[in-house]
Amino acid sequence: MLHRPRRNRKSAVVRDMIQENHLFAANLIFPLFIVDGENQKVEVSSMPGIYRYSVDNLLREVESCMNLGLKAFDLFPAVEESLKDKYATESYRKGTLYLRAIEAVKQRFPEACIVTDVAMDPYSSDGHDGIVENGEILNDETLEVLGKMALAHAQSGADIIAPSDMMDGRIGYLREVLDNNGFTNVSLMSYTAKYASAYYGPFRDALGSAPKKGDKKTYQMNPANSREALIEAQLDMQEGADFLMVKPGLPYLDIIKLLNDNFDLPIAAYNVSGEYAMLKAAIANGWLNEQVILETLMSFKRAGATSILTYHAKEVIEKGWVK
Ligand code: PBG
Repeated sequence: MLHRPRRNRKSAVVRDMIQENHLFAANLIFPLFIVDGENQKVEVSSMPGIYRYSVDNLLREVESCMNLGLKAFDLFPAVEESLKDKYATESYRKGTLYLRAIEAVKQRFPEACIVTDVAMDPYSSDGHDGIVENGEILNDETLEVLGKMALAHAQSGADIIAPSDMMDGRIGYLREVLDNNGFTNVSLMSYTAKYASAYYGPFRDALGSAPKKGDKKTYQMNPANSREALIEAQLDMQEGADFLMVKPGLPYLDIIKLLNDNFDLPIAAYNVSGEYAMLKAAIANGWLNEQVILETLMSFKRAGATSILTYHAKEVIEKGWVK
């Protein structure tokens, strides 16, 4: 035999020497759920180890992450039902929980990178990412709300704004709003290929943000399709996105690779709540070894993602698997 591929696997040193992909703490973005009040730290029942924090405890959590070298955070608010309305006005109200949280983190930890989520659903009485009228999601009218939200995030100190709504034209619209207000340095991480997925279930539990009626199929993508991801990516490129994101991650590795093969912007993968719940449940039952976590995160790297949004971010560093 001339070729014995096993020679390249014969020892740890040789295996490490030829390892193609590596995961670093610097690649990870940690999503954090926030809630109003004081001294709150409430576990999300479908996401063991993940909590909703009030701002005081959020600062403690961010501090412990910063000490571990985990420095990028994506914030999501759980909003009281009484504050929700048709136009998600709570999302940009001065003094609202979300804006206070951004300000508090940036003031205490100026070097932390805060990614903010722009979408109406946590604040919408309809539980949708756009304005609902006669059962339809209005696109262009929704852009105006997203613009106000993004501007408020930028004014509060957001480093990267991540629109997760899937309205058409929102990247170009938000770029213009930000630039016109002097925020040329605030980045846009577009949820480029966001699928109408059942993997978001635990997230919607965490925030109480599930649609009151209908589903999100008129704006989120059909899980059976890959070609429209190319159309979305091309539009995002033209409209000025700084990152392209694929969401969920694990069931859509082919889409990460597709975008990485065709576009030169950095690709982010969102390892969503349902993916987290799935592994945690199997590990808790003793059905899977916890090494599946690292194997999963590495698959995003192999597919071509540079950045990974994952609820596992802190634990993989705490366990010493990622530095
Ligand atoms: C909504 C939004 C969702 C997630 C992030 N932003 C869910 C949805 O579209 O209903 C899901 C994240 C996760 O499941 O971890 N704008």
